[in-house]
Amino acid sequence: MTKPASTSAAGLRDVVAAPSSICFIDGEKGILIYGGYNIHELATNSSFEEVIFLLWNGRLPKQSELAELNAELSANRQLPAEIISMMKSFPKTAVPMDVLRTTVSALAFYDPDTGNNSPEARKRKAVRLTAQTATIVAAIDRIRKGQEPIAPKAELSHAANFLYMLNDKEPSDVEAKAFDIALILHADHEFNASTFAARVTAGTLADVYAAITSAVGALSGPLHGGANEQVMKMLLEIGTPDKVDAYVADKFAKGEKIMGIGHAVYQTEDPRATHLRRMSQATGERQGDTKWFDMSKHIEDLVVAEMDRKGKKIRANVDFYSASTYYMLGIPVDLYTPIFAVSRISGWTAHVLEQLGNNKLIRPRSDYLGEMDLKYVPIEQR
Ligand code: COA
Repeated sequence: MTKPASTSAAGLRDVVAAPSSICFIDGEKGILIYGGYNIHELATNSSFEEVIFLLWNGRLPKQSELAELNAELSANRQLPAEIISMMKSFPKTAVPMDVLRTTVSALAFYDPDTGNNSPEARKRKAVRLTAQTATIVAAIDRIRKGQEPIAPKAELSHAANFLYMLNDKEPSDVEAKAFDIALILHADHEFNASTFAARVTAGTLADVYAAITSAVGALSGPLHGGANEQVMKMLLEIGTPDKVDAYVADKFAKGEKIMGIGHAVYQTEDPRATHLRRMSQATGERQGDTKWFDMSKHIEDLVVAEMDRKGKKIRANVDFYSASTYYMLGIPVDLYTPIFAVSRISGWTAHVLEQLGNNKLIRPRSDYLGEMDLKYVPIEQR
């Protein structure tokens, strides 16, 4: 028996898995486009809600369409009381991404469209999941601190609502804007691991909630969404700017990676890092303390110099400066990855809708490396 010639690429790098109109990345040039618009255009001019509409519909909304989406999000932000009770029963020490995964999964029980996979129902589920992911993440922090979740306010934007529900205090316009931009920057990234997981699950015609539960699980790993938490843990472990050189030298000596640096697709700077670097610096300057930004910049400079010396095109990714930015916004470190989900739920749902709009079961082949044609040996003779 012969097996087919191997065509596998490690980690499926550069394999084009399906057509999509949602997001484009040029890894060589550092270009990221959502639905035709460069991320720089969107981060400078749009709101997260406009970007949600763009990802779902392939075009920017008119004023009335944006108002309609805002109203839908607003009407769906509240979590069912049963979900809050369930969240209160979880151990206070549970990892927030695990709580998010389980809670997203359980939300399916209370969705009025359960069992309905029609295009209209899928869209309604996308709205509910996008609205409620933010509420869940804010509630995770309140509940584990023994506090009651804060009900959302209809008049606040998605970004401002999240910070309000997290802190029981309305954010300043500047804070809300900074967080809104962070949400825009994380909203989609083509066939990354979690999005691909969502599409694979949706492709079986499983429910939208099943697809998003798969995505949350995939996002939780340190090589994907978990890197931003690792970056902040690194900064806290280093502690002071004078210890950066020794820390980085030690990492290099041990051959260990610096989190928040490097990317599977970008061979140059991740365009999202450009905005987050600026945001980290501006947030520090506004607060009169740029320590976390300065340390991050120094680490980045050292790593980039070392990578250049080795001829590797490895640069800061989206996670590197989001860590210090979120820290300065007062967000607990173990919520950074759940916050990634607060944004990426828009992209995940867009991809699920696109996948189901023209579905084909995703079923690749493996590059089998095992033996062939072995004869069965009875157990007592092995
Ligand atoms: N720090 C130091 N060296 C790094 C590095 C980092 N963050 N990222 C990659 N490298 C080095 C690797 O050691 C490897 O070196 P080698 O060729 O001498 O073995 C080379 O660059 C290629 O790395 P590899 O991990 O094989 O490339 P990849 O395309 O699979 O990696 C990541 C992409 C994101 C997994 C990788 O860069 C990484 O682990 N980064 C840190 C985690 C992170 O920030 N993830 C969030 C991504 S948005």
